[in-house]
Amino acid sequence: PLLAEATRIAREFDYPADQVQRGVAEYIRQSNEGLAKENTTLSQIPTFVTAVPNGTEKGLYLAVDLGGTNFRVCSVQLHGDTTFSLTQSKIMIPRELMASGTSKDLFTFLARQIEAFLRIHHNEHFEAHQRRRREGHEEEELFDLGFTFSFPVRQYGINSGTLIRWTKGFNIPDAVGHDVCALLQSAIDHLDLPVRVAALVNDTVGTLMARSYTSPGETGTLIGAIFGTGTNGAYVEKLENITKLKHIKDAHYDTHTGEMIINAEWGSFDNQLSVLPSTIYDRDLDADSNNPGIQMFEKRVSGMFLGEILRRALLDLYNNAQLFKATETSVPSDSFLHRQWGLDTSLLSDVEGDTLPQMPKIKAALKEHLAIENPTDDDCKAVKILTHAIGKRAARLSAVPLAAVLIHTGKLDTDDIVDVGVDGSVVEFYPNFEGHLRDALREVPEVGVAGDKKVRIGISKDGSGVGAALIALVASKDETLKN
Ligand code: BG6
Ligand code: GLC
Repeated sequence: PLLAEATRIAREFDYPADQVQRGVAEYIRQSNEGLAKENTTLSQIPTFVTAVPNGTEKGLYLAVDLGGTNFRVCSVQLHGDTTFSLTQSKIMIPRELMASGTSKDLFTFLARQIEAFLRIHHNEHFEAHQRRRREGHEEEELFDLGFTFSFPVRQYGINSGTLIRWTKGFNIPDAVGHDVCALLQSAIDHLDLPVRVAALVNDTVGTLMARSYTSPGETGTLIGAIFGTGTNGAYVEKLENITKLKHIKDAHYDTHTGEMIINAEWGSFDNQLSVLPSTIYDRDLDADSNNPGIQMFEKRVSGMFLGEILRRALLDLYNNAQLFKATETSVPSDSFLHRQWGLDTSLLSDVEGDTLPQMPKIKAALKEHLAIENPTDDDCKAVKILTHAIGKRAARLSAVPLAAVLIHTGKLDTDDIVDVGVDGSVVEFYPNFEGHLRDALREVPEVGVAGDKKVRIGISKDGSGVGAALIALVASKDETLKN
């Protein structure tokens, strides 16, 4: 009965071809709405980045990156020949700064990390700056910094934008509505660092830019997508289609390419649940989250949530179908099985990656993540059945925005390869994520087998640091990237 029940629940996560197709049609509808109006489910944010790089860009830039698993500070030397050197430090953001502090606490923390990074890696420059300041010089040699801030922001220009809402477990209410570049700049100035916040960048836009720099093709990269803690995508749109731009006052952007990168914020696709699949676990996860009713696509696709969906399904089997109830099995009362957000998505990757009959990785993962000792073979199989179903649904859902953007931009109608840069812990570590995604992509008639063959998907690892540098370059030199 345990395996039968696991199989029954797994079927609730089926996401068949006809639903994929409905999803794509609805995505196209919601994305057009987002290009025309403000305050729609799909934000379709104009980024004021009007071209993608071609690999010849040069210079030394700083970048910081907030919003993925780690906070990073990096300096990027672009060599101008599609290569770059990156020096970076990764820091976990303390939990209390993510969800209970003030924006001042958070941005002061970020500025302190930038200071520490400069002292370690660019101390000469740093000391020279301090000396010049003491001597009262006006002329400043500042580092230009690209700020990758991976949350929905209403952008007013390349280096200003106000936070629309927090996502992915961050919750610092006093930052909402404020210009996050100004907040970072003021924390930097407070510490007297030689740094100018030159560009505001979503991680998807950074990924798109970085991919285009490192793999320039005839047409550049079309889409940058993140499947990590959160999920989202950015793509190159025709300016004439962004009809709501006419209403943005004081918008300064270079129009010579006739294009602009749009940050879709597709985590919020179909918040009204007109086409997204929903199980009882999805509904309960949402109701108990700190932002019920929003990021509904993200809550079915991205790393922050997949572990929690699985935990809820496992708990159901534990309570109702004898999962982990064999006499030799122990489930401590403080096991993460009983704690909201207790399951890290890496559990799903570990479980799905185990193909051996003895299921050693599954056993090790259950011990590591849930403190469960001696699960039976049926326990492990049940865990595997659910994990597979939840991961596969996430991957198939991920095909929806990709197919929609491919169709909407008409890029499959030529013979050219269409390049897509991706990053994030789910696409990188969940076994065969791309395979499931591509299966669903081919099931969309307008894409089909032929369309799928034209799509080249490549990891742009840690790309957003490089992307942020590239955008800081545009902003600082006021020089347009070549198309
Ligand atoms: C990193 C990028 O590699 O991937 C970040 O540099 C991005 O900008 C992150 O947010 C997404 O992945 P994850 O799994 O860390 O959320
Ligand atoms: C969330 C954020 C979005 C980001 C994505 C991936 O969806 O709102 O801005 O791009 O996570 O990190």
